Amino acid sequence: KRAQVAVVGSLNMDVVVKAKRAPKMGETVMGEAVHFIPGGKGANQAVAAAKLGAQAVMIGAVGDDPFGRSLLESLRKSGVNTRGVKTVPGVATGIASILLTDEDNSIVVVAGANGRCLPEDVEAGREMLSGADILLLQLEIPLETVLAAARTAKELGMKVILNPAPARELPEELYRLTDVITPNRSELEFLTGRPVDEGGLEASMKVLLERGAGCVVTTLGAEGAALLSPEEGFRRVKGYAVEVVDTTGAGDAFNAALACGLSEGMGLSAAVDFAGRTAALAVTRLGAQDGMPLRKEVEEFAKRLNGG
Ligand code: RIB
Ligand code: NA
Repeated sequence: KRAQVAVVGSLNMDVVVKAKRAPKMGETVMGEAVHFIPGGKGANQAVAAAKLGAQAVMIGAVGDDPFGRSLLESLRKSGVNTRGVKTVPGVATGIASILLTDEDNSIVVVAGANGRCLPEDVEAGREMLSGADILLLQLEIPLETVLAAARTAKELGMKVILNPAPARELPEELYRLTDVITPNRSELEFLTGRPVDEGGLEASMKVLLERGAGCVVTTLGAEGAALLSPEEGFRRVKGYAVEVVDTTGAGDAFNAALACGLSEGMGLSAAVDFAGRTAALAVTRLGAQDGMPLRKEVEEFAKRLNGG
């Protein structure tokens, strides 16, 4: 079955500056290059899902400016249905200022038009959402919109995947509406309010189950992922050693692939494996949406891993 995925979330233009190292407070350093690349966690997940073969629809907001237009263009080019993305006059499109150094990246997001993605937009898009069986949510739009989307999805009998990024305090109701919550290590620490060491990983994940999430999948970068569900219990899923070019959007690739896998009928473990391979490939390329792999690339990667 072809995956049917809906996303309610953010769209940002990523202003990616490459530099050898980050400046210290008050210091100026010379950078090497700048790229303008379509991003935003919501849009990245929609694009990644479409590239993996899903029928993908998105609800979100951009400003009436060149960045907004090129974000819409990027979604369309990948085959995402953009009917639910509104253009808001008089506000700037969301921006992510990304500093990419040899060590890592750091990101500052300015929400702009994403702040205007409202519960009423979810209501207006209800019909569109009902065509999908999985809803992907992140936290770069107003929390009340995230909550409204999760409620609507449940009414429509859809599964909800919540990627709690960037981390913020969540109401209990949102946990209960969530089938799969997908924090990374630091988001898990934020949500549980305690550090996560190796031995404590399962216990921390259990806290989110107890708050009402259906299951928990923690992404661990190069170390893979861990899952905890009432059916499968606690399981570690191995990571892949790849050459890191840009980790921006790796989490989005993971979430999109997880949604596609589950929508296609894979079990949780299989979907998490598929997600891990998709994210590993995304890391080897520059840019969030530009770096999202196609389905056949993920399949070829899987064959190479199996020595085929
Ligand atoms: O998850 C990666 C995304 O986070 C980037 O594309 C950037 O826009 C930020 O929102
Ligand atoms: Na990338």
